Amino acid sequence: MKTPFIVIEGLEGAGKSTVIGVITQWLEQRDIRYITVREPGGTPLAEALRSLIKQDWEETVSPEAELMVMYAARAQLVNEVILPALAKGVWVVGDRHDLSSQAYQGGGRQLNQTILAQLSAITLKGFKPDLTLYLDIDPSVGLARASARGELDRIEREELAFFERTRARYLELAAADQSIKTVQAERSPAEVKAQVLTLLEEQWPL
Ligand code: TMP
Repeated sequence: MKTPFIVIEGLEGAGKSTVIGVITQWLEQRDIRYITVREPGGTPLAEALRSLIKQDWEETVSPEAELMVMYAARAQLVNEVILPALAKGVWVVGDRHDLSSQAYQGGGRQLNQTILAQLSAITLKGFKPDLTLYLDIDPSVGLARASARGELDRIEREELAFFERTRARYLELAAADQSIKTVQAERSPAEVKAQVLTLLEEQWPL
């Protein structure tokens, strides 16, 4: 079997960390070796890019600059960490991946889809997750959860309409790709966990 790359996606406050916990517990119960990674980030250079792109600047951060930083970080993570792990048979669980750029930069920032597809092709050369769990949540609910956790960063302080566009693009992309499964993330923690476990068992039965 090809070693799987699983990705968790969704807006701020959708509950990605909790779902990653559910997945890693499931992997441990099966004695499967895995690593978890996050985007942007996951290598020293990519983590530096993460803090640069999340912080505030006394200038406008252009959507194109933001886009290319996301892809620069992704190129580092994929080449340095994800592909080597998979080659050794170690499963990879990713907190965000390419779909975030499609949704946030393509949907939220309304950047041109052809340019996004080209950057994606240059960076990933056709590499894609085996399973993506998209945690769907109303942005106002998610943002309220995220702000209750602490201060919001540069992207998290965008207007609601930005997140509405991001969500709409997530839903559009999920509907068009069999490998992206939508989880109803506003339901109770127990129900979210049950949805996630069902999807994992469906894809990788014992
Ligand atoms: P988070 O992983 O803590 O949610 O922070 C990452 C932030 O960066 C989040 O607001 C989503 C945003 N982001 C993009 O806009 N595009 C991307 O490609 C990725 C990976 C993240």
